[in-house]
Amino acid sequence: MTIAERYQRSIMPVQPMETSLQFSHGQGCHLYTPDGREYLDLATGIAVNAVGYSHPRVVAAIEAQVRRHLHLYSGTGYQDALIDYAEAILTEVGAGHKLFFGNSGTEAVEAAIKLARFVTGRPGIIAFRGSFHGRSLGALSLTDSAARYRSPYEPLLPSVYHVAYPAPTRLSVDPDQALRLVQQQITSLLETDIAPDRVALIVLEPIQGEGGYVIPPDGFLPWLQDLARANGILLAVDEVQSGMGRTGRMFAYQHSGISPDIVIMGKALGGGMPLSAIAARESIADAWAPGSHGTTFGGNPVSCAAGLATLQVIKEEDLMDRAVQLGALALDRLSPLLRLDAVRDVRGRGLMVALEFAGPQGGALAPRVMNDMLNEGVILHTAGLHHEVIRLMPPLNIDDESFGRALSTLARVVEAAARG
Ligand SMILES: Cc1ncc(COP(=O)(O)O)c(C=O)c1O
Repeated sequence: MTIAERYQRSIMPVQPMETSLQFSHGQGCHLYTPDGREYLDLATGIAVNAVGYSHPRVVAAIEAQVRRHLHLYSGTGYQDALIDYAEAILTEVGAGHKLFFGNSGTEAVEAAIKLARFVTGRPGIIAFRGSFHGRSLGALSLTDSAARYRSPYEPLLPSVYHVAYPAPTRLSVDPDQALRLVQQQITSLLETDIAPDRVALIVLEPIQGEGGYVIPPDGFLPWLQDLARANGILLAVDEVQSGMGRTGRMFAYQHSGISPDIVIMGKALGGGMPLSAIAARESIADAWAPGSHGTTFGGNPVSCAAGLATLQVIKEEDLMDRAVQLGALALDRLSPLLRLDAVRDVRGRGLMVALEFAGPQGGALAPRVMNDMLNEGVILHTAGLHHEVIRLMPPLNIDDESFGRALSTLARVVEAAARG
């Protein structure tokens, strides 16, 4: 029996397989099949492996922690692996915050929802169209990137309101118009649907991930923060995909100068191990009564050790600067494709890079390009509400040669696909 057949027999088909490949191991920015074929991985387990596969410092940190202890429930007693990492993360978020660890992005979003409802005593949550916040029922109620994620599970959490995200290409307007349109929608929502003093939380991705690597216009996040503060509403940024240095700053919200009440983290946070967290302003964090939330595995010491080692590599090897440089290189090399009618946009911030196809055929071109790239030995993922976007999320320490070659291959493959 092949491994595909064994999967078919034993694994639920609910989560589709992106390729038909089997992998035996990964090293650096490459994955390898059991027969030795090498694939350049520009998807990094969906923005998880920020410093590539099996970075020696991450492996050493895991090995050292494993020899001390594996799981130790974070409520049993104090442990340095957890607090060492918490302190390091809080240094990045800024003074005056406290942390709660979980295991996955969706779980961190749940924690943010519960914290906001607990401390404000209000029910309402405002989220954005095209967003992805996870698949557990609370987080899913905020997620709005595909009807198939939501519809089968209705009714979802009540008092969740969605407004448009200022995504110029999605709304077919320029960035200024997108900003005004969304501002009007939110203002009108608070006048006609839910009073501001009934809203606990506004949640957004500072760059939409699954929605297509959409960067909102300058001024949007500061405007939202002013609105939230004026009305006693908490503002949470979901940095699960955009965080941990990927955009050239530790967190994407830091490009806009805001100071959110809650920062939601996951994916790369655990250095390849399952880990998530929320950081909340101290006054909010301290109001969350002991026992009103909790977790068995959250803050697992091995995950914390792997995450801390990864954070140290990102900082000591200047990988945020590298993300900026390589992101600029990607835009430079891919922008000439804008001359093709089929290519609607090339955009990015650091190493969140997107190439968006135009029109109804865009949803067919991106999967085709993804497949053609796979045949060229490069793993990519699509994104966007109609899978019309190719997204690049390589490890931040990818070498110049591998990345340069992948960009040239992508440009050639896109040209060929666009010509039919
Ligand atoms: C922005 C964002 N939030 C939350 C999640 C959910 O994370 P997880 O799959 O770890 O539950 C994701 C996953 O893709 C995400 O991109």
